[in-house]
Amino acid sequence: MAPHVEAEAPPSPALTSTDSCSDDDEVYDINVPIRAGNKPLRKSSTPYPQYLPTWDPVFFDALPEFKFVDPALRADPLKRALLTPGVTMAPISPKMGTELTGVQLSSLTDMQRDELALLVSERKVVVLRDQDFADIGPFKQQDFANHFGKPNYQPVSGSVPGYPGFHIIYRDGNRKEIERYFEQKSSASIWHHDVSYERQPPGYVTLCMLQCPEVGGDTVVASMTEAYKRLSPGFRQMLDGLMAYHSSERICGFARSNGGLCRKDPVKSLHPLVRVHPVTGEKSLFVNDEWITGIQGWKKEETDWLIKYLMDHISKGHDFQVRLTWKPRTVVLFDNRSTCHTATVDYDGVYERERHMFRLAAMAEKPIPVHQN
Ligand code: SIN
Repeated sequence: MAPHVEAEAPPSPALTSTDSCSDDDEVYDINVPIRAGNKPLRKSSTPYPQYLPTWDPVFFDALPEFKFVDPALRADPLKRALLTPGVTMAPISPKMGTELTGVQLSSLTDMQRDELALLVSERKVVVLRDQDFADIGPFKQQDFANHFGKPNYQPVSGSVPGYPGFHIIYRDGNRKEIERYFEQKSSASIWHHDVSYERQPPGYVTLCMLQCPEVGGDTVVASMTEAYKRLSPGFRQMLDGLMAYHSSERICGFARSNGGLCRKDPVKSLHPLVRVHPVTGEKSLFVNDEWITGIQGWKKEETDWLIKYLMDHISKGHDFQVRLTWKPRTVVLFDNRSTCHTATVDYDGVYERERHMFRLAAMAEKPIPVHQN
């Protein structure tokens, strides 16, 4: 899928971060600026200004159906190419999360990338510190992510000029904006799967931290496999047969009604509420706070009740979550099929600092329902 400029695309040159949200704009996700209005960002001190969000006036077609072969299915089950002498793995929690040391992502061979995919499928989250990945440039970064699936082009978030697969997460640490946000909300948590509204949502997601507060701004990740297993057999059986609608209508509507740019028409997909992982065969809940608009055949009150129950279960499930701390040059790969996550905003005040990262999401299989197995 090549991005294209549509006839009705704004004739302006690429909008830069100085055209992004400012003090008076309403905020959708406190971590992700969308292009709303023409107000300047405050001066940035990021060491990676080339990754500040920009909005090329490019519009994207819907992603057509494509064949996806999970790279983990090609991997040596013992991961002998990746886990060479000197490489170590430390669990972050018993059931999920591994910190991998002795590996530079920038120099992995295809075989090692396949084995990394297998490790991510098995452990759900892999954290790598002290990476040079942030410095290898957008071409090589996108090329790395393309090994794991097709690039995703976001409708409203900023990216890197010429590289629409980049989703820029940028919070400038502005206390006033954070205070205003918390006047309306008691928490910044938005538990979500990335881009779950697409027909073939992301499988492997790469996050690269460029600048962050010394303390705070952690990402919390929940295992949706464990969340599913904790439910009783009868309840699981009911969930196994349900299908939910996921839609990007709300975020597109939000951007448009705030004078912003939505670079792709809203996408709506029907996905199983429980999906089967193509590599591990595990079942996971596929439910989130952000994108679900209904359950097929259910009334609104019934949908609201079930989603609220499940999201309470997931957000309270500290025994199946990990809390990831960040340093600049930390890269995290997570499996978007068997986890959901939320950022945290707790760094207003003493550790106030810009939080700046990029995300590369690799689109994968159409979620596999339980009854196909
Ligand atoms: C995300 O929410 O997609 C990225 C995670 C983060 O900002 O911590």
